[in-house]
Amino acid sequence: MAEKKGKRKRLSRRQFIKGAGTAIAAAGVGGAILANGPRTETRAKEEKKRTPAQAGAVDVTLKVNGETHRLSLQPRVTLLDALRDRLELTGAKRICDRGTCGGCTVLMDGKPIYACLALAVDAQGGEITTVEGLGTPDAMSRLQKEFVEHDALMCGFCTPGFVVTVHAALKQNPNASMNEIREACRGNICRCGTFNRVFEAAYATAKQM
Ligand code: FES
Ligand code: FES
Repeated sequence: MAEKKGKRKRLSRRQFIKGAGTAIAAAGVGGAILANGPRTETRAKEEKKRTPAQAGAVDVTLKVNGETHRLSLQPRVTLLDALRDRLELTGAKRICDRGTCGGCTVLMDGKPIYACLALAVDAQGGEITTVEGLGTPDAMSRLQKEFVEHDALMCGFCTPGFVVTVHAALKQNPNASMNEIREACRGNICRCGTFNRVFEAAYATAKQM
């Protein structure tokens, strides 16, 4: 028995994660097949007619970070998908995709909105600002620098949303107190629990303003 135990092959963490990922991917594909059932010929033909991503597309003009973009999009496309998938502005994150986490926050005419809840067609005519428009790695805004200095991120997925939200809050109220900063961030969630550091970074920026 002891010999058997000794012979048991031990998986490294990396092997385990790789294996689990493959299993999840496989389960996803299998699930899709099970959910959809076999593809009949008629159904395949119907899909063929519908599949072009541009079916029913309309012209959409978006002004993002000061640049005008002319796109052809289906009316159902969200602002978040247009930014990420068409304009390659991936700062705004798709996390919950249902207006609860704030990871997709962008500014519309200076006000924070959830880009996952806005349709791109409805965003026409507005000035959209994403986190990319607030600073770059080489030229960070004061707030972005404070995020770095306060180590206000762990996985970083929520960070762009927080930066945009705090930027808007401090623009409106440059002398914001800690409580006002907390209040302004109530629509953003950090699953890693770095809230306090985010608030400290924001407060440090407010004190300099
Ligand atoms: S992805 Fe938009 S609120 Fe979560
Ligand atoms: S740093 Fe990971 S979710 Fe906020």
